[in-house]
Amino acid sequence: MAASTEITLRRPDDWHVHLRDGAMLNAVAPITARAFARAIVMPNLVDPVTTAAAAGQYRERILDAVGRDGGFTPLMTCYLTDRTDAEDLCAGHADGVFTAAKLYPAGATTNSASGVTDMARIRPVLEAMQETAMPLLIHGEVTDPEVDVFDREAVFIERVLTPLLADFPALRVVFEHITTADAVAFVRAQGPRVAATVTVHHLLINRTDLFRGGIRPHLYCLPVAKREAHRLALVEAATSGEGCFFLGTDSAPHPVADKESACGCAGIFSAPAALELYAQVFADQGVPERLEAFAALNGPAFYGLPVNEGTVTLKREDWTVPDAVPVAVGGLVRPFMGGEVVGWKVAD
Ligand code: DOR
Ligand code: ZN
Repeated sequence: MAASTEITLRRPDDWHVHLRDGAMLNAVAPITARAFARAIVMPNLVDPVTTAAAAGQYRERILDAVGRDGGFTPLMTCYLTDRTDAEDLCAGHADGVFTAAKLYPAGATTNSASGVTDMARIRPVLEAMQETAMPLLIHGEVTDPEVDVFDREAVFIERVLTPLLADFPALRVVFEHITTADAVAFVRAQGPRVAATVTVHHLLINRTDLFRGGIRPHLYCLPVAKREAHRLALVEAATSGEGCFFLGTDSAPHPVADKESACGCAGIFSAPAALELYAQVFADQGVPERLEAFAALNGPAFYGLPVNEGTVTLKREDWTVPDAVPVAVGGLVRPFMGGEVVGWKVAD
């Protein structure tokens, strides 16, 4: 069979993105809204989004940034802390302000200092979430400094996730941005209440790429990319079409100066070419027809939301990812694969 040159799918969603705030929000939100109809917006702002009131205001700022023509719907999340108020959280969920809540183990990643220090502290919150079927989105890495950074996801499964799922047998969980074969196998072994997002950069790079010809700060993110065998397991999972895996870019912009630094920030800004790069992965695997399930059907099914109206078409066409995206205040952001050629393009 000839390789396909066109992929048409329902309008897709991004089930994990960092849109930031202020000038950065204005620069990056329209880029996500170009390709995706909805996005689960991460709450790890410098001043984290911990209340329904703050989430409502942040949603307004996002809509100001992308325009209010109804083409893009931000889905808001609550940043869990040791002091999260279960009542405010559930009221925010019932009102449609919060779609989900995000668990950052304290210190695990960017702006996670106010995260949860001990799962025991949020038991009442988890009970309420289980009761109301509000999804818990998890950054699945232990923060124990003794644990090797490449093992933190696998150790999290054993130390935190397994006991959590046993304690809360009906809690709905998304294991975010999985990076290991261990996580793939774990998610598959759970029932339909557990799912995982897979980023496009974890489908394309392994840990050796971080050091190819020199250190590559723009390929540094958390969880950090793992060995090639893990990347292959992620590609197999994402392109399998199984309902428990869906698209979440984890696009996470930082100003170039904060990436190219003696202590560079974690985060890969993939939004400018994310959908096209996912398409390339599925096409290279010979299963372009499965992109729709991964990008547009599995996520809504897990979240209990309707699939989007309308379609998007990608065509086999070479184009070059921009080298840099300007931000009004704070300089430039460098996109994932900036300056490189991508073989798929969203048709106008
Ligand atoms: O690489 C990452 N960047 N991982 C995260 O978990 C957070 C994100 C960010 O906010 O920059
Ligand atoms: Zn993230």
